Amino acid sequence: EIIHLEDYRPTDFVLERVDLTFELDPRETKVEARLIFHRREGVSPDAPLILDGDELKMTGLLFDQEEILAANYDVADDSLTIRNLPATAPFEITITTELNPEANTKLMGLYRTSHVYCTQCEAEGFRRITYFPDRPDVLAVYTVNIIADKQTAPLLLANGNYLGGASMGDGRHFAAWFDPHPKPSYLFALVAGDLGVVEDTFTTMSGRDVALKIYVEHGKEPRAAYAMDALKRSMKWDEEVFGREYDLDIFMIVAVSDFNMGAMENKGLNVFNDKYVLAHPETATDADYANIEAIIAHEYFHNWTGNRITCRDWFQLCLKEGLTVYRDHEFSADQRSRTVKRVAEVRHLKAEQFPEDAGPLAHPVRPTKYREINNFYTTTVYEKGSEVTRMLATVLGADLFKKGMDLYFDRHDGQAVTIEDFVACFAEVSKRDMTQFSLWYHQAGTPLVTASTAYDAAKQIFTLSLEQMVPPTPGQSTKEPMHIPLRLGLLLEDGSEAVLSSATGAEVTGDVIHLVERKQTVTFTGIVSRPVLSLNRGFSAPINLHFEQTPADRAHIARHESDLFARWQALNDLALPNLVAATAIAREGAKAECDRALIDALLAAAADARLEPAFRAQALALPSEADVAREIGSNNNPDAIHAGRQDIMTAIAKAGRDIFSTLADEMVVDGPFSPDAASAGRRALRNTALSYLVYAENQPDRALDAFKSANNMTDLSQALTILAHRFPDDRKTVEALSAFKARFGDNALVIDKWFTIQATIPGADALGRVRTLMADPLFNSTNPNRVRALVGTFAFSNPTGFNRADGEGYRFLARQILDIDPRNPQLAARILTSMRSWRSLEDVRAEHARNALREIAAAPKLSVDVSDIVERMLKG
Ligand code: ARG
Ligand code: ZN
Repeated sequence: EIIHLEDYRPTDFVLERVDLTFELDPRETKVEARLIFHRREGVSPDAPLILDGDELKMTGLLFDQEEILAANYDVADDSLTIRNLPATAPFEITITTELNPEANTKLMGLYRTSHVYCTQCEAEGFRRITYFPDRPDVLAVYTVNIIADKQTAPLLLANGNYLGGASMGDGRHFAAWFDPHPKPSYLFALVAGDLGVVEDTFTTMSGRDVALKIYVEHGKEPRAAYAMDALKRSMKWDEEVFGREYDLDIFMIVAVSDFNMGAMENKGLNVFNDKYVLAHPETATDADYANIEAIIAHEYFHNWTGNRITCRDWFQLCLKEGLTVYRDHEFSADQRSRTVKRVAEVRHLKAEQFPEDAGPLAHPVRPTKYREINNFYTTTVYEKGSEVTRMLATVLGADLFKKGMDLYFDRHDGQAVTIEDFVACFAEVSKRDMTQFSLWYHQAGTPLVTASTAYDAAKQIFTLSLEQMVPPTPGQSTKEPMHIPLRLGLLLEDGSEAVLSSATGAEVTGDVIHLVERKQTVTFTGIVSRPVLSLNRGFSAPINLHFEQTPADRAHIARHESDLFARWQALNDLALPNLVAATAIAREGAKAECDRALIDALLAAAADARLEPAFRAQALALPSEADVAREIGSNNNPDAIHAGRQDIMTAIAKAGRDIFSTLADEMVVDGPFSPDAASAGRRALRNTALSYLVYAENQPDRALDAFKSANNMTDLSQALTILAHRFPDDRKTVEALSAFKARFGDNALVIDKWFTIQATIPGADALGRVRTLMADPLFNSTNPNRVRALVGTFAFSNPTGFNRADGEGYRFLARQILDIDPRNPQLAARILTSMRSWRSLEDVRAEHARNALREIAAAPKLSVDVSDIVERMLKG
């Protein structure tokens, strides 16, 4: 039941070719798979062929077109074993299966969504289509024939290049596709239905024309324009930055409305959650546009990092995901503001990955065991995996990193490889021993680095003492010291920077200190005045940093650092202790004050016209309630955190009222809507200012005006959020919510926002509200986006509402999980991870949480997905 990395061995049989024929029908689809195998050299002639299956119904089985004797095979719904196969000669196995796409609520394998047939095969969905060696190291060339009703499915798509098609005279038609690139089954895709299309072309760097097509529901074509633009920019960027060219005649994207994840990189035929394709100023926020750009890029970039070079086994998931996230991060940084993008990445990493790494679900970026691979599509594999790639680039420097990537593409094209193969390319080009660096892939837990400093004015020597500790995590009680690349700056009193040339005690390359020992003391000479240390610039390493620094020093960094990310970090570091102190005060039932140093630093950043508006908006966004909870670490009371944070917000708002009011006027964006980063930044700063003004005024009129005058979804949804979160029971809020619902009732993606805004209204009444919303006709418990919008955001993003002291929030979630699980285990397991930090709650809540988890664990017939998560959460 548990799969171990060390048990890996190649298959006994080599798969040469795959020919698939689909006769599509909503309830009775027939699949014929013709598979050509030969026995791998050296494998015993007695070894049987064992194929994977999942809930399959087989209706035929042939060996070289002859029926196989019953004595020569065993069939179960999860495997097919065939014996007495040729010792050396290639042979053909033909398998016929029958599927019911309409009944496939797991959304894995072949399913129907809004009358469209579509597939999701990663990680192990192909085995729900036919019996198959369903693992990423089995690469084969596929031909696909699709037969379907012409009326309801005029469009028949699969991977690769289109071969041809025709009418069949019986009301059906067929199409044939051929993908010349050997691929694993998880990259297979088929789509059939009646969809509209947006078309364009791209000319690659070697001059080949590629047809680009984005398929969406009829009538929604105009909403795919931005995705198309992002696709073309992605293709160009990958040529320019990584030297990667597209390799088929056609690249297709299909948007579907029922999808478990964000999107899927199937060869030549990406399938997307429509939320990451469709955008229109009236219905999409700036964040939606940014996500579309990033995810379109991510899936496109997989064509090289994932498809041309794939994973040997699922333990290597970060080989493609961590690397591809790094690539999409770099793309967005180049398309938008690098600093603002970095701030958003780090906020996300800290909010999602740090708690995972600090709780019962912690696992290495490259795990060594799993029960259910779907539970390892985590922020650790994706986001920490990306940070590890970024550190590779930091340790080696840009030139050697590029050389290592080139070697990787060159050496492993067409292969299924491991993290070791990847790292070896960088070791080779840099002649560095990467053994210690590789611990980032193997050791879970966020390292804690403690720093202290001393300055000797007479000798002009600055000393930095560093100590690292990697906390124990489930299954890993002791850890080795890691190679932690820390970028730093020594800021002098006048705001200039000291030169780091003469350092001893550590390797220093450029502005990077390489911390490799448990304890290390670095000495810098020739430092003419006491410097202010800015450490972990750009968040060069994903660590927790303990460094006692005075508010004055932090304010100095916030004002003078040349690295703008470090300025944001300094503001964050200034704010956190205030919020922690305010929590303690709120817990005593008193009102918290805010340090003047924080207020001054924030308002100085807010008013600094040399800083781009998007950065100023990020600077003004205080650490979240979850950030504060993490900082406190244990015995958390979400109500106190919330109340304390409200006090601090109000204090800043009152002190900065004039500045915020000026910004609210200045940052109005004139002219027609444009989703570009600069305009989005102005909207972000304006909405932040607005939100502070509402705190200062403590009445809804300003937000109501903004709601009424908004001409785009960013401003409209922000205004509605302020109204709903601050004045949930005000008649004007109730009216605004119903006006919003009436206006967008036919747009599912916008109605998701309507649910989300209400699901995140803080306070103990939230649960009642969520229950009422679940009874709304617009709620749909089978659509993953809708379930995530209401149930998911309530559990993940409403700390006070979900963590009600009476435990009702947890009991509600337990029941939801048990309700969703039989239909869609992946969705249930994902939402359940919202409880991953339950042990850091104060005792009463933690006890309620434990009981809710036990209630889930005790339920009969849990999916492997949910039982894996719940058991790890109770154990770890
Ligand atoms: N490879 C996809 C992406 O990162 C995600 C697919 C996840 N699928 C799953 N069943 N967990 O773009
Ligand atoms: Zn991916």
